[in-house]
Amino acid sequence: MKFFLDTANVEKIKYFADMGLVDGVTTNPSLIAKEGRDFEEVVKEITTIIDGPVSAEVTALDSDTMVEQARELSKIHKNIVIKIPMTKEGIKAVHTVSKEGIKVNMTLIFSPAQALLAAKAGARYVSPFVGRLDDISHIGMDIIESIRLILDNYDFNCEIITASIRSPLHVVDAAQMGADIATIPPDVMDKLFNHPLTDIGLDKFMKDWESVFGK
Ligand code: G3P
Repeated sequence: MKFFLDTANVEKIKYFADMGLVDGVTTNPSLIAKEGRDFEEVVKEITTIIDGPVSAEVTALDSDTMVEQARELSKIHKNIVIKIPMTKEGIKAVHTVSKEGIKVNMTLIFSPAQALLAAKAGARYVSPFVGRLDDISHIGMDIIESIRLILDNYDFNCEIITASIRSPLHVVDAAQMGADIATIPPDVMDKLFNHPLTDIGLDKFMKDWESVFGK
């Protein structure tokens, strides 16, 4: 299973990359805006830290401009993957740019039907948003299971990025369901490490050691 980091914060990317935990990075307009830095500059810097797919999102709504932006963004680095939203215009854009060898991560996927359309149009990745489905009382992880089944029935060259992850449980569920990738926000990545029994156990080991051998 691959771990992507869902952030445009280069310090956080370096922090987890040093532990060997980052296979790729996903950004979106909200995450870029949060950093308050130039879009292309941030994305370029991320490609110098991580040798893996780095998703950069188009900001147009019509297919022609999406295609233009996809072509421009893909010139930044060979590892750039273009994030395109799941709309009819987006599907048209995927169809065009995927034939040119540009890899697309189709984003804002909320149903298995949308994922099937994206894979059919040539998307290299689909990003179902599980957390936002949970937010509206729909079990987000259910669509990961369905999409896994659908993609396994055929030979689409399309990987599932479990996105909009809000908790460690989403990551564990994604792994159990065979999602290819989880794109994880830094705060959730931190939480994956935690277990109180690890802290209690380590504290006891240290105290027992020190009681006999000193510090
Ligand atoms: O990868 C998509 C993700 O950035 C959306 O997450 O938490 O805004 O729903 P969220």
